[in-house]
Amino acid sequence: MLILPWLCRFITTTDKVRCCMADEIQELLERNKSWAEKMEREDPGFFARLTKQQKPRFLWIGCSDSRVPANQITGLMPGEVFVHRNVANVVLQTDLNCMSVVEFAIKQIKVRHVIICGHYGCAGVAAALEGSTEGVVDHWLSGIRSLSSQHQAELEPLAPEAAQSRLCELNVIDQVRSLCRTGAINDAWRGGQQVDVHGWIYGLQDGLIRDLGIRITCPEDLERIGNA
Ligand code: CO
Repeated sequence: MLILPWLCRFITTTDKVRCCMADEIQELLERNKSWAEKMEREDPGFFARLTKQQKPRFLWIGCSDSRVPANQITGLMPGEVFVHRNVANVVLQTDLNCMSVVEFAIKQIKVRHVIICGHYGCAGVAAALEGSTEGVVDHWLSGIRSLSSQHQAELEPLAPEAAQSRLCELNVIDQVRSLCRTGAINDAWRGGQQVDVHGWIYGLQDGLIRDLGIRITCPEDLERIGNA
């Protein structure tokens, strides 16, 4: 790829942009190669073992935000966490994608824990609070908008940043509730399969996860956080 910078000097501006973009993408592939080599060097047979099966104990449902990567912030290796991410870590029973991930994780992989992890400073939550969304995202975040209206009495007296942070927490709690009502989780509980659902929130400012103190292990536990 050494020829790329040399070529850039001889082509038009538009092509130059394209060329640099190609360079940027190429860099990812090169980094991947170095990473795979390093992994194999440090733990020979690592990838061969992973091809045989994946048996993660955790399902992570988090925000798509690039600053909240599940594996990195929990120090987990490939094969250790099954991940679903979307804008503002929403669990909707009408979302075929999320429901398939949950069902597969519970019924096939038989994860022991499901973690819903939101984060402070979530742009999705902020947009829902400010009513500044449009298009498909507006539709996607309608549940969080309703949640903010539901908690208006608590949120309104707060300063804007505090209100946003509180809504990020309330959103996690609401998504935990939503997840605990899914068929997959209830079938598991009824069949005696142990699945604990946890509500966490991550701080962009310090890289730390706060446990919101929610641990739902059976339908009765739901009452503790209000089955509204
Ligand atoms: Co977010």
